Amino acid sequence: MKEERTKRRFRWYWIPLGLIGLILLLIGGLIAFLHSMLPWQNLLAATSNMKVELSEKQKAYVTGGERDYSTLPEVLAAEDGTVITDTQQFEARREQILELFEENVYGPLPKDGFETSFEVVEEGEALDGAAIRKQIRITVSTGKGSSDALMLLYLPNTGTPSPVVIGLNTGGNHAALDDGNILVSYSYDADDEKIQEERGGRAYRWNIRDSIARGYAVATIYSGDFAPDNRDAYGTRVISLFDEEEFKAVGAWAFGLMRGIDYLVTDEGIDAAHIAAVGHSRLGKAAIWAGVNDTRIGMVISNDSGNSGASLSRGNRGETVCSINKVFPHWFCSKYAQYGKNENELPVDQNLLLAAVAPRLLYVASAEDDLWADPQGAWNGLMAAKDAFALYGLPVLPDSEEQPPVDTPLWCESMGYHVRSGWHDMEAADWEFYLTYMDTYFRDR
Ligand code: GCU
Repeated sequence: MKEERTKRRFRWYWIPLGLIGLILLLIGGLIAFLHSMLPWQNLLAATSNMKVELSEKQKAYVTGGERDYSTLPEVLAAEDGTVITDTQQFEARREQILELFEENVYGPLPKDGFETSFEVVEEGEALDGAAIRKQIRITVSTGKGSSDALMLLYLPNTGTPSPVVIGLNTGGNHAALDDGNILVSYSYDADDEKIQEERGGRAYRWNIRDSIARGYAVATIYSGDFAPDNRDAYGTRVISLFDEEEFKAVGAWAFGLMRGIDYLVTDEGIDAAHIAAVGHSRLGKAAIWAGVNDTRIGMVISNDSGNSGASLSRGNRGETVCSINKVFPHWFCSKYAQYGKNENELPVDQNLLLAAVAPRLLYVASAEDDLWADPQGAWNGLMAAKDAFALYGLPVLPDSEEQPPVDTPLWCESMGYHVRSGWHDMEAADWEFYLTYMDTYFRDR
């Protein structure tokens, strides 16, 4: 009788049900694990670069949240709070701004204790005679040793000095133009077959042919020659020559741009009074940081530089201080992470960095679908920086809470801005605006 009751309680379908439950549990655990390994932010960071359409839910995630600027630092306020009324006072403020960014965001930038030397390792005519191609080995040496970077430079073949646009690249020099003579960047790690496939693959991003036709030289160096973009291995190459622990990748890339300029100012084909530094995205952050530190740069171009670039951190949209430090801890000094979800405590915001470019020229560009880089935040950053340019007697863009319409640039003698239709990238349409701005406001400045 007892045995019978036990038998009745057991149901055959418990076995498959149990198995299904177990499988669901395993899948749930796996998803939770992957989610913690690859947080939302990474996924969105990737989609913004890979041109994947964001769902409405994802869009809400990057565009939602508060945009509270009540604690935004004032550009024209001295350390003791007094209002800055002349350029001499602003020069002191500028020094203070640089120190604050070194201490809280990018880490210190080596100013001495190193030497830079050069060797032109290859030179030839290019682009059917329209250009001279030069490839220059840049050697940085300190007491610890030396490390090399390879700069690729195209000069208009005009016999007169040309203004130049210099920017670092992430794809290796060989990708910047379809020119079989381009040497492979020293730290670029790929086999021959891959290099052949990649040759010229980023030509659209470097616009060399068109820039040469318009009378501009273009120089580029692979960012990895200064610091590999890898959280575990960033401390190799040029960056390894310095003992300062808080000298991180964005700092090393800015430093690299400056070493490229060390060469450019010695080249007779370059008009050293007209050097523009450009950078896309992570390298846009580095271009601004180089631009505020190196006054040989007469114009700074930030292309989709996003969080910790031109976009205000206090906007709290798209990428945040919290997520950028989690995903890219090797880009910034370690103190920066403390301000994640705590932006109001940051003694700076990116408007101060943009202001420190004054009275040199500043161009900020965004892309409409690049919500991760927070285009509106970049516009707000520019608006909150412009008092510094006005202090130098320069005309500035009119006050507006709204960005100009898509593909309609706004320019004046101190600054430019556009939001291009499309994705996170640097394209011919961006260059068209940059070069026309340079023709109008920079070339003869
Ligand atoms: C990621 C990162 C951004 C960066 C971008 C890029 O999206 O989150 O901060 O600007 O990569 O360099 O393309």
